[in-house]
Order: sequence, then structure tokens, then C-alpha cells
Amino acid sequence: MRKTVAIDGPAAAGKGTISKAVAQHFGFAHLDTGLLYRAVGAKVLQGIDPVEAAKALTAEDLEADNLRTPEVAQAASKTAVVADVRAALVDFQRAFARRAGGAVLDGRDIGTVICPNAEVKLFVTASAEVRAERRYLELSGKGHSDTREEVLADVKARDERDMNRAEAPLKPAEDAVLIDTSDLSIEDAVAKAVAAITAKD
Ligand code: C5P
Repeated sequence: MRKTVAIDGPAAAGKGTISKAVAQHFGFAHLDTGLLYRAVGAKVLQGIDPVEAAKALTAEDLEADNLRTPEVAQAASKTAVVADVRAALVDFQRAFARRAGGAVLDGRDIGTVICPNAEVKLFVTASAEVRAERRYLELSGKGHSDTREEVLADVKARDERDMNRAEAPLKPAEDAVLIDTSDLSIEDAVAKAVAAITAKD
């Protein structure tokens, strides 16, 4: 089945967890498109030109172990405003989306720009406070020393930049199903996503 599931939403809303779970449930491949921008951001922090970095991105770059840090997240969202960076990453994402067997892509512009014809579009969100608390727990669990306030400020700064940029801003596609995970357990959020995807069969 060549079904594409597009999952968009702001940082730490639960997109990654939901995407992995639905990909496993339906046997689809999963691409976390944020990793592409994080890999470019990490290269920019090393002094490489953002557009060159995006054009030369390799599968290996997506496995660098520093991609989940707050510094790289900020660098990713700063480079993600550059039109030529985004353009360099389009073909790879579209090819992935159309692979046989079905694909789940999560990011910011999947349902609006990358895959406007996706069979299913979900917009996963949660309040900034809930998202920041989740990211704080994740980071402190990995030994990062960022405070709750710093993590909340980081999440808000990225939301602001991602929603207000000219190129592919973060917003729900008109036909997206909204899932607010603020008061949902992981199991309930995944169940809602699975139900929304099943309903489009
Ligand atoms: O999803 P994640 O937090 O890993 O994304 C890092 C940054 O990459 C986001 O803040 C956003 O600026 C950018 N991004 C994007 N478009 C996507 C995925 C991520 O602009 N499809």
C-alpha cells in the first residue's frame, strides 16, 4: 500500500512518539524530518555553509550523536528559514513519502508543502508548558543541565520562528485532523492517531 501519513506540529508535542507507534502499527516506514534540519544545523555550528550542508547531506550525518541537543535544535530552526536549505531537502522527503509499503513523515510542513496529497494528515499539538515539561524531563534524563525555564524559552523561541517564517511556516493543513496531547497519555494519543488513519482507509 502506498499510503502517506503526514504528521506535523510544534516541538515536543508528541509527534515522534506517535509517528514511531503508528509506523509500527501499520508496518509503514518512518522519517523524522526534523533530523534533516538538525543535521544541517549541526554542520552550520561547525562553520559549514547551510545550503552546501543541505545539498551534501548523507545518511551517516543523520546518525551523529549530538543531534538531540538544544543548541543543535536552535541551529536547525535558524537554518530552516532559508528557502534554499528547504528546497535541497524536498526530493529526498517526497521520494521517502511515496515508497511502496507506506510511509509516515513527521515535521512542520509535511501536510502543507512536502506531501499536500498525503492520504492522512495529523496535526499534533499541546500547550507550550506541557511540551516544555516533557522536553525538560527528556533532557534531564540524558544528563543535560538546562533548567525548566531555559527549556520553555527554547521551545517558545523555536515555535515563534517556525510559525512566523515566510517559507513553509508551521500550521495545520486545512484537512488535518487535530490531536491535542496536553491531557492525553501516550497510549490514548497513539490510539487517536491510529483511529484517524484507519478512518481514512
Ligand atoms: O522536529 P525537530 O524538533 O527535530 O525539528 C528541529 C527544527 O527543524 C524545527 O524547530 C524546525 O525549525 C525545523 N523543521 C522544519 N521542517 C520540518 C522539520 C523540522 O522546519 N519538516
